[in-house]
Amino acid sequence: MRKVILDCDPGHDDAFAIMLAAQHLDLLGITTIGGNGILENVTTNALKVLEVIGRPEIPVYKGHAGPLLKPLVTAPEFHGESGMDGPVLPEPKIKARAQHAVDFIIEAVMAEEDVTLIATGPLTNIAAALHRNPAIAKRVREIVIMGGSVTFGNWTPAAEFNIYVDPEAAAKVFNSGAWVKMTGVNLTRQCLITAKEMNEFRKLGTRAGQFAADLVAYFIEACEKTAQLPGANLHDACAVAWVIDPGLITAAPTHIDVELTGELTRGMTVCDYRHLRGADPKTDLYRTPTMPFRGKAPNAEAALELDFPGFMDLLYRTLRAYR
Ligand code: BDR
Ligand code: CA
Repeated sequence: MRKVILDCDPGHDDAFAIMLAAQHLDLLGITTIGGNGILENVTTNALKVLEVIGRPEIPVYKGHAGPLLKPLVTAPEFHGESGMDGPVLPEPKIKARAQHAVDFIIEAVMAEEDVTLIATGPLTNIAAALHRNPAIAKRVREIVIMGGSVTFGNWTPAAEFNIYVDPEAAAKVFNSGAWVKMTGVNLTRQCLITAKEMNEFRKLGTRAGQFAADLVAYFIEACEKTAQLPGANLHDACAVAWVIDPGLITAAPTHIDVELTGELTRGMTVCDYRHLRGADPKTDLYRTPTMPFRGKAPNAEAALELDFPGFMDLLYRTLRAYR
């Protein structure tokens, strides 16, 4: 089983990321970061998810409350004030560990071989760990993130939320020397959950299925109201699904950096796809490089196409297996 640490800010879609990772991966720990909600809330939410799925032994570590340089931006219009409004759950009995998330990440990566870092919130904790111990960039197997986009953003025309919240941290991660796999919103928009899938979750008859239905009932309504979307995107679950089954996503190598100063484009992930430019009307990208690289060598892989039926099959199986 792949050893992973999941750094997240639950978050409705982060909750799905946790459920997938806890069942299919060797989840060494969950680290939390202020993002969708304030740190206290997203940490409580992570603990609640672990109790729902009966995995209270998975350790949770609190990380940074907000970005390196700027004030925290949260997303109550999508996730509610708690960061995970909708499901009615008791206060968790389990507690977060005393160790700071950044200390845990550094310690675990240095102690274990081949750890994959999965990040589904702003990248502050990961950047802080890389800053404190740059050696972890080469020790990790890869850093798989939900964030950014090869096309347009969601929080601003150019920037996706997780990168927008802490662009300096994201730039640190992309320039660290670690191999980054990016599931941006160009990909996660293909993971659209509607009432049809919500009803299927409910029919599973498990506590996890019920929880999943309650999560998306709230999330679908919020996404429709706030962004006029025809459903809810399970952004973060895509990043974890990619680690579980790489065949679910088609990707291409590319060089990615983050815009830090643009008046209109701060937080944009600038992807050099000159070698990939093609005539695919859907993505404007070929699946494999078609020309020699220009500019800098790839430091990342950008996710382009999702096998949505395959993803849903994995998700249904996962929710069914939790009793
Ligand atoms: C990302 O932002 C958050 O609101 C979601 O949890 C996801 O990680 C999508 O832009
Ligand atoms: Ca998230």
